[in-house]
Amino acid sequence: MINDLWYKNAIVYCLSTETFMDANGDGVGDFQGLARRLDYLAGLGITAIWLMPFQTSPGRDDGYDVSDYYNVDSRYGTLGDFVEFTHGAKQRGIRVLIDLVVNHTSDQHPWFQDARRDEGSRFRDWYVWSKQKPDNADQGMVFPGVQKSTWSYDKEAKAYYFHRFYDFQPDLDTANPQVQAEILKIMGFWIELGVSGFRMDAVPFVIAEKGADVKRPREQFEMLRSFREFLQWRKGDAIILAEANVLPKTDMDYFGADGDRMHMMFNFQVNQTLFYALASGNCRPLEKALEATRTRPETAQWGLFLRNHDELDLGRLSERQRSEVFAAFGPDKNMQLYDRGIRRRLAPMLEGNVARIRMAYSLMFSLPGTPVLRYGDEIGMGDDLSLAERDCARTPMQWSREPQAGFTKSATPILPVITDGAYGFEHINVADQRRSPDSMLNWMERLIRMRKEAPEIGWGNYTCVDTGLEGVLAIRYDWRNNSILIVHNLTQAPVEAEIDTGLGDDGHLLIDIADGSNSEAAKDGKHCIYLEGFGFKWFRIGGLDYLLRRTEI
Ligand code: NOJ
Repeated sequence: MINDLWYKNAIVYCLSTETFMDANGDGVGDFQGLARRLDYLAGLGITAIWLMPFQTSPGRDDGYDVSDYYNVDSRYGTLGDFVEFTHGAKQRGIRVLIDLVVNHTSDQHPWFQDARRDEGSRFRDWYVWSKQKPDNADQGMVFPGVQKSTWSYDKEAKAYYFHRFYDFQPDLDTANPQVQAEILKIMGFWIELGVSGFRMDAVPFVIAEKGADVKRPREQFEMLRSFREFLQWRKGDAIILAEANVLPKTDMDYFGADGDRMHMMFNFQVNQTLFYALASGNCRPLEKALEATRTRPETAQWGLFLRNHDELDLGRLSERQRSEVFAAFGPDKNMQLYDRGIRRRLAPMLEGNVARIRMAYSLMFSLPGTPVLRYGDEIGMGDDLSLAERDCARTPMQWSREPQAGFTKSATPILPVITDGAYGFEHINVADQRRSPDSMLNWMERLIRMRKEAPEIGWGNYTCVDTGLEGVLAIRYDWRNNSILIVHNLTQAPVEAEIDTGLGDDGHLLIDIADGSNSEAAKDGKHCIYLEGFGFKWFRIGGLDYLLRRTEI
């Protein structure tokens, strides 16, 4: 039963086919290249891949502008290559999730082309039109500073069309039953080709009411239930992981009170406060965010992450907190994006401080949810701020010291490989790190193993244990007579934390999961735990008779 809900304790690895591995030497990553790298991913220990969009697309928003939902973009290969890849992943016990981008299409999609040409087109109502420019056309932009409006005039259609994102991404009228039926058909198609579910793009916008006269769009949450229902009819263990950067008070509307809507959501609230905690050395707001996002149905799960392919969105922090994070991790204007975020990768944000980078990943892996890693994180890749917008953190994977980091044989990769400075491929690459026991890569493999051996995190109840220290976060998980305690020091200074596990005699003994060393509680029942600056420890908790009491899990 517990393994059926595989996503509760998965390790997800997000990658873009385009920049991962190029097998045919044209400079663009492809499915054959990705398939060749499956053994690498299996070795790392990840259990699921989240593939960024790879369907046919003009590629103006890195594939988030789809022009054919039922095909693979020819630059990445064929449907045949895709199935070979999913089959290879399955053989290695790795599941595949794919992006489902159905809030909008590309303006090059034949549906939009047909709709704009002819008012009588059967696709006209698949999009959102207005004869006049709506009053709120200059509101609600997702990419402020780059995107000028949410309604643009189309000469051919002789009407304005709605686009929540860029103007080449016209919104689908998702309330239209025909559009909804098409969304199910798209899911059904990819499910047949071997995927285990979808990372659903922009969910709050998919379910929002759309139209020129809509002033305060209401969400049609029931739509989420219908997506899930359909998916489960077709494939019982398939899931939807929602991208929904929403306030905690609406979380349950997305999960569904009966656990009948989204299986997973990214926890943006925790993501932002985690960065605030890293910047300020104050864990209290993070504890609050954990509390605020605690309630979820038993079958639901959070997706946790540090950095993803977009900017680090700090929009939910207070003005003061946000400036603190900007000052610490993205002080230059060039590092910031859309007036709300930071576009850098993690390693440069933390100035390459190995102890701090490892602590940050360990912390993320120890929070309640399923960790989602981004390709290149496992070797500490950097960014290229000379590239536009979010492209800076989407450079090709650095495999080796060969030309173009071993990513391609072509001299002109789709995005430039990082060559200069400390993050250049000659310093940061998989081949070198494989051979070095203390490398980030080998450390990450050990972290993944440790997280897999702690299913309490995915399933258990958690309690933030008082440490008396603002800079130290201690979390205890309890599940089926097993308990673990994980402690992180977010500050640079070494600390001694006095910790009462809260379990009385049962908390007498702590066994360090990484090195097997023990800590016994003092007479007052407290443990004195020493942590280096940016240090962390994962403990299994046991009473004196802990070996006897521990139930098999
Ligand atoms: C969210 C995706 O993460 C982002 O990369 C994309 O630009 C927008 N949705 C539009 O699809």
